[in-house]
Amino acid sequence: MKEKIRDVLAALESRLSVKPDIALVLGSGLGGLADELEDAIRIPYTELPHFPAATVPGHAGRFVVGRLHSVPVIAMQGRYHYYEGYTLEQVTLPVRVMQALGAETVILTNAAGGVNETFQAGDLMVIRDHINWFHTNPLIGKNEDELGPRFPDMSEVYDRSLRALAKETAQALGISLKEGVYFGLSGPSYETPAEVRMIRKLGGDAVGMSTVPEAIAARHGGMKVLGFSCITNAWSGTGDQPLSHEEVIETSERVKAHFTSLIKAIVKRMGE
Ligand code: HPA
Repeated sequence: MKEKIRDVLAALESRLSVKPDIALVLGSGLGGLADELEDAIRIPYTELPHFPAATVPGHAGRFVVGRLHSVPVIAMQGRYHYYEGYTLEQVTLPVRVMQALGAETVILTNAAGGVNETFQAGDLMVIRDHINWFHTNPLIGKNEDELGPRFPDMSEVYDRSLRALAKETAQALGISLKEGVYFGLSGPSYETPAEVRMIRKLGGDAVGMSTVPEAIAARHGGMKVLGFSCITNAWSGTGDQPLSHEEVIETSERVKAHFTSLIKAIVKRMGE
């Protein structure tokens, strides 16, 4: 991993004029935020060593580096998912790279299904905690001590004060913000009704196919993490609602203006 990070930095650093403070990982339908960066430099993943070409529709697959309210940020427009067949090392390399570039905080975003019965399609949720149901872990293998400890603490993956800042900011903007536990699993099949009911019993409020590996790698490296789910569909657990990727994209399109203004305002406050 260390060598790979070094190779990517060598390819990136000469192209960047600012050191990013905040890293942003933009999920399905939420990539538009990266188009709002000022003085943006766009670097397709295909131009970087060890970065495979992204394959999912709705994921552009590039870094966008620039300023948001004068805060230097690096955004991932498109991410790698485990279900695409990448290893968790490939899935988490970009987070390691953004940290190596100087980002001390990462904001992870995703589209997720609502499992909590009070959630509705279109809700936004700040992630309080996660459950890793990938049945694997990005840190399996020989630990690279320079990157982080063998047994990293996960007692507060999603930074408490950043969560408080997110809630205050949402309130100031009049945006309703739920808070809950993100249940991460591999996909790519969506959940059966029995699985939805299981996730609810196990304490999941939202379910999705990303974020957890990146959050674990980020914490391993000592980054601060903030996470948001856009609830694109609300599961009842009765099995009377089929779900399609189109529906997921449609909902994220519908709420992206809200979502974008919330993230922008949070980044602004983080820069103050
Ligand atoms: N399940 C898993 N991933 C998702 C969902 C879902 O219901 N909605 C958006 N991404």
